[in-house]
Amino acid sequence: IWNHIPLAKPDPILSIIEEFNRDGNPQKINLSVGAYRDESGKPFILPSIKQASKILFDQESDKEYTSINGSLDYNRLVKQFLFGGFKSGKFFIEQDRIVLAQSLSGTGALKLSGEFLKNWNFKNSNEIFIPSSTWANHYNIFKNCGLKISQYSYIKNNSLDLTNLLKDLNQIPLKSSILFHACCHNPTGLNPTRDEWLEILKIVSERELIPIVDLAYQGFESGNLQQDLYLVEMICNKIANDEISTALICQSFAKNMGLYGERIGSISIITQNSNQTFNIESQLKKTIRSIYSSPSIHGSKLVEIVLSNDEIYQNWQNDVAKMSSRIKKMRFELFNLLNSMDNNLNWNHLIQQNGMFCFTGLSEQQILKLKNEYSIYSTLDGRFSISGINMQNIKYLAESINKVINS
Ligand code: LMR
Repeated sequence: IWNHIPLAKPDPILSIIEEFNRDGNPQKINLSVGAYRDESGKPFILPSIKQASKILFDQESDKEYTSINGSLDYNRLVKQFLFGGFKSGKFFIEQDRIVLAQSLSGTGALKLSGEFLKNWNFKNSNEIFIPSSTWANHYNIFKNCGLKISQYSYIKNNSLDLTNLLKDLNQIPLKSSILFHACCHNPTGLNPTRDEWLEILKIVSERELIPIVDLAYQGFESGNLQQDLYLVEMICNKIANDEISTALICQSFAKNMGLYGERIGSISIITQNSNQTFNIESQLKKTIRSIYSSPSIHGSKLVEIVLSNDEIYQNWQNDVAKMSSRIKKMRFELFNLLNSMDNNLNWNHLIQQNGMFCFTGLSEQQILKLKNEYSIYSTLDGRFSISGINMQNIKYLAESINKVINS
């Protein structure tokens, strides 16, 4: 028995960490996973989260199961955090038109979205269109939910390929689902401008598509948590105007609260009335119960403290601004260093991108060379997780890139 089971391919992102850990080179650099590192290259617990942890340690009174869809407080506070800062979102909260459930980070929210779209297929909603370059796991998640997956154009010559993106969207079957990255596109760091989003959303409306929004890097684009909700707000405005009928928002606190291993996030579904909300919530609970019964409570209690305490919330916002500005600084430092070297290459795309990643345009062969000869680890598509760069390793990194390019 079991002899028929072949070896699975290693995960294109997480398996790199294992290789990195085995490397004895003291100059090694890890630019693989999208997890923040401080200026000395260390994982970082946000000071605001330490503050919340102390309160939780002193006040926690039980370790009971929480509700299937997360605690009432968590759901109320996260709903307010995501939708309470703009008019259409406030209106949906007042009208009870948002189903929100705690999820196992963004991945769990995407899984619940995929299950929802499969279980309640409406016309073509069980076919999902994802950007041609996207987070590697999107494909796995939706495939395992049984959805049909297709792609739309996204990037060409290191720039957003808006012409082909719009052309592809115009050909998507009516009432299909479509995945967008809310900000800080992973892996390319390229996002449409507000005007370009308006063009995109016009087609979403005309073709009656269902937007699924992946909101994993909120705060890392502008440095401001509320500002990075611009796409969510634009979509909600369209729903309020009856131009789009619904949206699913898959949100994560992994990056912006540094709560990676706590697996904490949410799924929100915008409905058309409170009856739908009531029914959809009951179905979502049924799905959750059959997969993991109910979510874990430690991360959600930390989030509740941060979102309900004005002082800690402000400290959190400041922590996010600091992380995002260090990443921006490293992006520009790398750009300047590479430009100052003799390689006749145009690196402008590095500073046209935004968020946790830069998409270098280096080939798979060059990335492998960086790993094998210089112990610099990144994903094979040429994505660098910028927070792995700091003032101690940036010169070595730029010189190594230069040598690989000129070799
Ligand atoms: C990444 O893209 O590196 C992160 O989202 C971590 C992950 O789970 O892949």
